[in-house]
Amino acid sequence: MGSRRKFIKKTSAFGLGAMVAPEFIAAMDHRSSQSKLKVGIIGVGLRGTAHLANLLLREDVEITALCDIDPFRIDLSKGMLKDAGKAAPKFFGKDEYDYRNLLEMEEVEAVIIATPWRWHVPMSVDSMKAGKYTGVEVSAATTLEGCWELVDAYEATGTQLMILENVNFRRDVMAVLNMVKNGVFGELVHFRCGYQHDLREVKFNNGLQPYGGGVEFGEKAISEAKWRTEYSVKYNADVYPTHGLGPVAVMADINRGNRFVSMSSFATKGIGLHNHIVNTGGKEHPNAKVVFKQGDVITTTTNTSRGEPIVITHDCNLPRPYSLGFRVQGANGIWEADGKRIYIEGISPEHQWEDSAAWLKKYDHPLWKKYGEFATGSGHGGMDFFVLNAFVESAKRKIAPPLDVYDAASWSAVTPLSAASIANNNQPQAFPDFTRGKWKERKPFPWMSDGYNR
Ligand SMILES: NC(=O)c1ccc[n+]([C@@H]2O[C@H](COP(=O)([O-])OP(=O)(O)OC[C@H]3O[C@@H](n4cnc5c(N)ncnc54)[C@H](O)[C@@H]3O)[C@@H](O)[C@H]2O)c1
Repeated sequence: MGSRRKFIKKTSAFGLGAMVAPEFIAAMDHRSSQSKLKVGIIGVGLRGTAHLANLLLREDVEITALCDIDPFRIDLSKGMLKDAGKAAPKFFGKDEYDYRNLLEMEEVEAVIIATPWRWHVPMSVDSMKAGKYTGVEVSAATTLEGCWELVDAYEATGTQLMILENVNFRRDVMAVLNMVKNGVFGELVHFRCGYQHDLREVKFNNGLQPYGGGVEFGEKAISEAKWRTEYSVKYNADVYPTHGLGPVAVMADINRGNRFVSMSSFATKGIGLHNHIVNTGGKEHPNAKVVFKQGDVITTTTNTSRGEPIVITHDCNLPRPYSLGFRVQGANGIWEADGKRIYIEGISPEHQWEDSAAWLKKYDHPLWKKYGEFATGSGHGGMDFFVLNAFVESAKRKIAPPLDVYDAASWSAVTPLSAASIANNNQPQAFPDFTRGKWKERKPFPWMSDGYNR
């Protein structure tokens, strides 16, 4: 909160009210017609309101429409706009398809979709078809058909879609990307990553609070437990691959000179969610009878055309500390996020891990150097500021975002491919080439710049 206050105070110094640093002022000059990007948000649950809070801090954004089928979330958003001293936008949500009326609004140029996963593809496709610069939360799709629908809609309309993967903007991840680009690790060989997060209190609650307090899910629960837990009932799959895979896919130039070729997945037995219900709600609770299809730890190995396999772990049903388990390994050395350690041959003491702090500082990303102080209060340690900043700056300029539809499709495809592999005795699954061969020519995004003025 302290840093949030500092952010507002510091940015007010520019005489723009809430926002911000010189780039934003310069960026406004680059726009031909309007001075503010007109944004609509579909889904103002926990994530959507976090985005709303961050967008309300920006002087270069006007919230023109909000949509949610839950009147409580609409009321809460109304309060946020009022507190920020902003004009009331148009509100939608009379039924599940009312978002289409939001998409018809001329006063919406860009759309952020932060709804449950099953809505991501239809909403994104409709949004692209309506010509709105589209940002979709993670994962973008849960089926291969859905991944293709996203790609096809983009190619048919030319309207950009950005997957809003915030971990790509984490400070250590961006510093390591900087090291990769500067050849610190030499030729890359291997990556590890994953989503390792004890979600038991996210998957179950008491219908009154978003986290824990009971073991309900589905209709009797609220927030993510209302819709997310059913994926653990129905699918034995890595249902949330992008927080881990997104950052290493960028380091490995996936869809830009490299591509995923095939993958196999393995699932452990699943005991964590049942144990949680019994231990918390008692063995007589009706949910103690629910059979969860999902294994507790799902391990996927994805090979790439450059021969740099990526091991991805999904581990969300057992007690454990949070970790995305990053490892980046190349000809010259290795970095691991767990343990905050690094080894670079010829520089680190022989055969010994070094603390990575000095390396991360030395290779701090230019964007973090420029905006780190502003960003830190924005949520998830600052990365939420950067992911939205990338979206807004790209949308204002109508240029391709750093994380595009091909990234969205190929990272999200791990979900259906892991389900197919596990269901078929861990058989390797061929990875679709969502770029239809363009990966060979596509150049890496200019990640190391400190802005988006291209
Ligand atoms: N990047 C991150 O760090 C991060 C963090 C949390 C959630 N997420 C993602 O954000 C998305 C939303 O998650 P959440 O935690 O906000 O969930 P949530 O359940 O709190 O919010 C979802 C909202 O969507 C609304 N909604 C559902 N169907 C709708 C429809 N047809 N039209 C309009 N509104 C509709 C619901 O009423 C709800 O308010 C998910 O994809 C999730 O994976 C990402």
